Amino acid sequence: MSPENRLQGRPLVLPQHVAIIMDGNGRWATQQGWSRLIGHRAGTERVRDVIQACLDWEIPVLSLYAFSTENWLRPHEEVQGLFEIMANFIDREIAELKQNGVRIRHLGSLEDVPGWLADRLRSAVCTTQDNSRLVLNVAFNYGSRAELVRAVRAIVEAGTPVDQIDEALIARHLDTAGIPDPDLIIRTAGEMRLSNFLLWQAAYAEYWSTDVFWPDLNRDLFQQALRDFGRRQRRFGALSGAERSRNPASVIGPENRPSIVGRTNGS
Ligand code: IPE
Ligand code: IPE
Ligand code: MG
Repeated sequence: MSPENRLQGRPLVLPQHVAIIMDGNGRWATQQGWSRLIGHRAGTERVRDVIQACLDWEIPVLSLYAFSTENWLRPHEEVQGLFEIMANFIDREIAELKQNGVRIRHLGSLEDVPGWLADRLRSAVCTTQDNSRLVLNVAFNYGSRAELVRAVRAIVEAGTPVDQIDEALIARHLDTAGIPDPDLIIRTAGEMRLSNFLLWQAAYAEYWSTDVFWPDLNRDLFQQALRDFGRRQRRFGALSGAERSRNPASVIGPENRPSIVGRTNGS
């Protein structure tokens, strides 16, 4: 662990899965009198930076929200521009990503995505499938509600008996099957909402937001998010360590959870 990964002398608890809602590209460009697409292009430089930071700090999973199912509501030129920026990013970066041990996974549906872009995304997933240093989830044409609808349809189509439906089964049918839930969700540009991102998976994620627009997010600020995460106390509905030792009689084991809820993460 590098010295910058220490927080006041204590080792920093790092998230194992960071998910980022990369917001504010349009406002960043507009406030400088530029077109929104310039903001989206500038945003791809920050994508490079956070991937590198995750590799440096050995964070094993990074999820990036690149295009939501609701972003189709934007003007055609912007949607088309976003598709081209995504395709160019893959063309430019894929060799280095592969070499750096990055495994790309796609979250969302490729059904409505034009073939030339869908093919690139599929090929990026395929060509990096043997990598394991960093899983990079690219959420493109992704929306949590659509993901849940796909999962429910698959479960019903398989004729799954009702008593076999639990949290673990649902998690296994999501696009994130087999990937641990995000520990930390970062959103830039000041909004305090998830905008249909990883609704199921974010159940116990820590949320961190900054007013800074995505194209201005630097490594220091990203590290600040990690430091703040390291200071959070996560209880997952139970008592904290200190409270548990003060209230030993109140400790209830997992066996007391109703069995219907099962476990998440496909485990
Ligand atoms: C985020 O930036 C990128 C996408 C949603 C594709 P925005 O384009 O939402 O930027 P703002 O929120 O309009 O500033
Ligand atoms: C969320 O940002 C989607 C992505 C970052 C890809 P939006 O800009 O689309 O979200 P809203 O519309 O402000 O909720
Ligand atoms: Mg936005």
